[in-house]
Amino acid sequence: MSSARRVFLTVSVVAILTVFDPSSVTADEPLAEDLEQRAAQIEDEVIAWRRDFHQHPELSNREFRTAKVIAAELGDMGMQVDTGIAHTGVVAILEGGEPGPVVALRADMDALPVTEKLELPFASKATGEYRGEETGVMHACGHDAHMAILLGVARNLSAERERLPGTVMFIFQPAEEGAPEGEEGGARLMLEEGLFEELKPDAIFGLHVWSSLPAGVLGYRPGPAMASSDQFRLVVHGRQTHGSKPWAGIDPIVVAAQIVLGLQTIESRQVDVTSNPSVLSVGRIAGGIRNNIIPDEVEMLGTVRSFDEDMRKDIHRRIERTAVHIAESAGATVEVDITLGYPVTVNDPELTAQTLDALREAAGSDNVRKMSLITGAEDFSYFQQRIPGFYFFLGVTSEDTDPLAAPANHSPLFSIDESALVTGVRALTKAALAYMSAPPD
Ligand code: NI
Repeated sequence: MSSARRVFLTVSVVAILTVFDPSSVTADEPLAEDLEQRAAQIEDEVIAWRRDFHQHPELSNREFRTAKVIAAELGDMGMQVDTGIAHTGVVAILEGGEPGPVVALRADMDALPVTEKLELPFASKATGEYRGEETGVMHACGHDAHMAILLGVARNLSAERERLPGTVMFIFQPAEEGAPEGEEGGARLMLEEGLFEELKPDAIFGLHVWSSLPAGVLGYRPGPAMASSDQFRLVVHGRQTHGSKPWAGIDPIVVAAQIVLGLQTIESRQVDVTSNPSVLSVGRIAGGIRNNIIPDEVEMLGTVRSFDEDMRKDIHRRIERTAVHIAESAGATVEVDITLGYPVTVNDPELTAQTLDALREAAGSDNVRKMSLITGAEDFSYFQQRIPGFYFFLGVTSEDTDPLAAPANHSPLFSIDESALVTGVRALTKAALAYMSAPPD
């Protein structure tokens, strides 16, 4: 083939792509390529950040050192940084040199009351106080990785500030695992304190490292992805009597046992399992002191998970109805308290679809997988109640381990294959850039 002909062919291919491929019309290819290079260059720094955070984990609403490190790094990148949001939250705004939408990227900051069992040179020896008890503290959910990844994204995007078509809000959020008893915290408190009031992002992205996916694989799910999580507390009131003469009192233990079984029929017999699954578990029953005394009362604690807000409310009503009427049938009474936890994490279907190409570019098309529903909960859901959001998962289990057998998030053996971190940087960078380059109408 002559060189002249080759040139002609190349030109016509470019022309066809420009006309027929909608993604090439708006995406700033040179910027995307430069950011891709920067992602590779920053890998060591991201790993170093992650190890530093890992070695210095802090519990929810106590992320003081963590916030300082993040604020200093973001300041060094030349960004306007706000601190002390929802106690220890840090937010930085990066205004690009070109006009465009506002995109928020979020990482959570807190660690867990878990004593690390990994033998790493940067393993945590930190301790903290949880519910009045001294405990080991560990980044057993991988939020150390989330922060390191987001700092990497911030470093790269800020280096390309002039060419960036829009504004990026970097949100470092405390207390995702839940504020200590009697305190507020997390995403909800950030929003209550006005996070989105001055500058409301058009969309938000976040990711979570995940043990059940191989390192470098990205998982996603459009629509409901993670469950709502609510707690219930039931106190059955009977009447104390001798264990040999139950007819002289009202036995709350037998009533509690019936309630446990009754509650299980909500999920299995009463709600439409074909629309959405749900889970209800009683995790604690406490009552009585010795073998031959029927006690006055029994306390039960449990959790309920669902994937639809209407179903969630419906199940709450059924919990109350079931408990009240079973108690009544025995002449007992029951107090029902349902404490709302995080809402359903719902990925905006359009935003999810629009972002998938960015994820495929970041991880390779074979490494982007649709996931099953996750019965865990996330307070990223509060952001998604305000603006369209997409929350996805980054596999971190190394090749030599079966991801399904790997110690799960929250395990003292939860471990991260750090080669996955740069995929996280790529994915969030590309997701943000894709949105900024071609925001929905
Ligand atoms: Ni987590």
